[in-house]
Amino acid sequence: MLITFEGIDGSGKTTQLRLLKEYLEERGRKVIAIREPGGTVFSENIRELLLYSEENISPRAELLLFESARAHLVETLIKPAIEEGSIVLCDRFYDSTMAYQGYGRGIPLEEVKSCNMTATGGLVPTLTFYLKLDLDESRQRAKYRQHDRIEQSGNDFFERVIEGFAKIAEAEPRRIIVIDASGSIGATSIAIRNHVKRIL
Ligand code: TYD
Repeated sequence: MLITFEGIDGSGKTTQLRLLKEYLEERGRKVIAIREPGGTVFSENIRELLLYSEENISPRAELLLFESARAHLVETLIKPAIEEGSIVLCDRFYDSTMAYQGYGRGIPLEEVKSCNMTATGGLVPTLTFYLKLDLDESRQRAKYRQHDRIEQSGNDFFERVIEGFAKIAEAEPRRIIVIDASGSIGATSIAIRNHVKRIL
């Protein structure tokens, strides 16, 4: 089973992923937690290139690097883990590419979709939590954090990303659960658990 977490910076997906991992492990489930881009040595190397490159990367090169990191992660880690019965929790997956490179950078959505398909081999998450937060709140929460190359993109870019996530979630309401991330960590975590309980 694959459960993914999506949302903009400061939405709390990393914390929520950790809390869900603890909850599932307490119930005796084997859980593997990973992040995108990353999760393997090769994919973490690509992450460095993507997030800390001093040169500006062209949108299509950026897209293909995310997909390359993903293809390797899916093939070497996610698929084998699912096959052996683990629950894989992934901090971002292909919906981020649709939101950031598609809606954000303006690469035609059909192109992004096709690249996502190549990278995942058609693997679709069982459940995706989109932790929804508006831009003001995100900026407020992330004020003291160091921003990576993509997080340095302007407000217009992030408005398009947020609008993109809304459209992506709207198109697949059974898979993508929209969670209001402006509340407390505890309230968000309970909402997530209640959805996960349904599919265990
Ligand atoms: P992440 O590690 O989730 O950073 P944070 O926890 O600070 O949100 O993601 C790294 C950055 O990469 C983030 O700015 C979003 C971006 N990203 C894309 O643009 N496309 C993608 O396909 C993925 C997976 C991430």
